[in-house]
Amino acid sequence: MDGVNKRRMNEKFLKTAVLASGRGSNLQALIDAWQSGELPIELVAVGSDQSEAQALSRAEAAGIASKAFPLRNYPDRFAQEEDLLAWLHGHKVELLLLAGYMRVLKTDFIREAGFPILNIHPSLLPAFPGVHAQRQAVEYGVRYSGCTVHFVDEGLDSGPIILQEVVPVLPEDTEDTLAARILEVEHRLYPEAVRLLARGRLKRQGRQVRISKA
Ligand code: GAR
Repeated sequence: MDGVNKRRMNEKFLKTAVLASGRGSNLQALIDAWQSGELPIELVAVGSDQSEAQALSRAEAAGIASKAFPLRNYPDRFAQEEDLLAWLHGHKVELLLLAGYMRVLKTDFIREAGFPILNIHPSLLPAFPGVHAQRQAVEYGVRYSGCTVHFVDEGLDSGPIILQEVVPVLPEDTEDTLAARILEVEHRLYPEAVRLLARGRLKRQGRQVRISKA
């Protein structure tokens, strides 16, 4: 057995779930990287707060369990998140990836999850947190923006940063053209961050995330 295969045998494939509210192009990038053997994870579940989310059909096409948790089915957000968390625990999830999940998870969910949660955000945090990050960047007039993969904490896009990459903002940019340029980078950066975490190469020390050598 060669070195690479030996390492594969010893690698623990983290049971991973993804939450997405819409199109799911980041989910697709993760599925593609996983299916081509580049990610030492097992994608076991995809959830959404939107029944019509394209992300759910992407999951189905890839043979991954998927389920919608629309708010209208619950008395409040707490009940929705409780149900969602029970579903994730039912799938024995060890890692949760937010990929365009357009809701801020409540403190109870994060505390009770018991697994790390990552998010990708389309700006260089801490600049432009929240919704419409690309619009905020264009309106502010910054020359550079980008994207950030970070651990989720109880704040708004405020958790420890894992990876960031810079993307130029051009004078003629609209929210949409900038979003498209950033998205291309997101599709590479998110799988890379997941790979680092799954290979045990990330170490959190307070706000700092150290990346150990391969
Ligand atoms: C992505 O640009 C992601 O970074 C952003 O939503 C888009 C989802 O696209 N997330 C946020 O703004 C979270 N605050 P996708 O559904 O095609 O992956």
